[in-house]
Amino acid sequence: MYKQLVDKLSSNNELSFDEYLMLIEHRDECREYLYSKARDTRDKVYGKKVFIRGLIEFSNYCKNNCYYCGIRRDNNDLQRYRLTADEIVRCADNGYELGFRTFVLQGGEDSHFSDDTFCSIIKRIKDNHPDCAITLSLGERSYESYKQLKEAGADRYLLRHETANEEHYKRLHPADMSYKNRLRCINDLKLLNYQVGVGFMVGSPFQTNDDLAKEMLFLKKVNPQMVGIGPFISHKDTPFRDYENGTAELTTFMLALIRLTLPNVLLPATTALGTIDPLGREKGINAGANVLMPNLSPVDVREKYKLYDGKICTGEEAAQCISCLKLRIEKTGCQIVTDRGDYKIQEAI
Ligand code: 5AD
Ligand code: FES
Repeated sequence: MYKQLVDKLSSNNELSFDEYLMLIEHRDECREYLYSKARDTRDKVYGKKVFIRGLIEFSNYCKNNCYYCGIRRDNNDLQRYRLTADEIVRCADNGYELGFRTFVLQGGEDSHFSDDTFCSIIKRIKDNHPDCAITLSLGERSYESYKQLKEAGADRYLLRHETANEEHYKRLHPADMSYKNRLRCINDLKLLNYQVGVGFMVGSPFQTNDDLAKEMLFLKKVNPQMVGIGPFISHKDTPFRDYENGTAELTTFMLALIRLTLPNVLLPATTALGTIDPLGREKGINAGANVLMPNLSPVDVREKYKLYDGKICTGEEAAQCISCLKLRIEKTGCQIVTDRGDYKIQEAI
């Protein structure tokens, strides 16, 4: 019964809300079968390649106050830092030597950086490494700002929607943030021809299975090039300190559903998944993920970019330890490749 639903998803690349919900609720009965279908689908589109992205966490200043996030404005127990433009460019140079061909600039919403500063950083990285892609993860900005950054050479943009349920969104964020503006941003990014990544946390406070089923319909509608999901992990200095963490098991299951719903999507096995479970990233790859995002930030600031407690940041997930990561991934039957790893447009049948 549930296997038939997996077959249906695998051939149609979509299900109804009730069908997604049924799979999520009865996942014990179809998990392994779903994972094997998700792996087959990934292999058909991208082969056994796993793409790597060098993550540069350039600032932990943030003007927002999301209830779940460790770098929220009101967290005073955090040493703040921001890298200089030179330091950011050096991280990318270093990453290039290590084999990275995509750099992700990620930071809190830090008004210290103007559009001009970002544009100049993007241009410098592109001048040094014209064969690389630049992904931005700078939060909510205006259409004009996204446009300038694109013209400076940015290729991709990650902006998780966090939840596809507006009521739920309100329970995760203070009143000065809105679901509507989030969607406006995602829409602007698409209009500007970025390769766009959205995403959500699995097991965030108040999330229900209905919400997770809704996520799948949302993703199908938005049809993003990338989807980043990871378990919610509580942070001791946030209002959500006492809420339970999401699980690797449910996150992995959602990854497989996403692979079958959006066969061509670039799908990371995230650091949060590797944090909640030491084998989390391998489990993600086994369920259809095909991207890893090791940390390229200078070692002394890594500890400070703490969105959640226990974040792995000094071991094998670090970009400098890429050879250890390669060995781990080979055990899943996949290989890490040095490649920009662009989105593959669905071929007409
Ligand atoms: N647990 C897991 N993920 C988190 N993020 C922020 N805080 C947490 C947390 N406590 C995720 C959000 C954000 C991304 C950069 O990190 O989804 O979009
Ligand atoms: Fe910075 Fe959420 S706390 S965007």
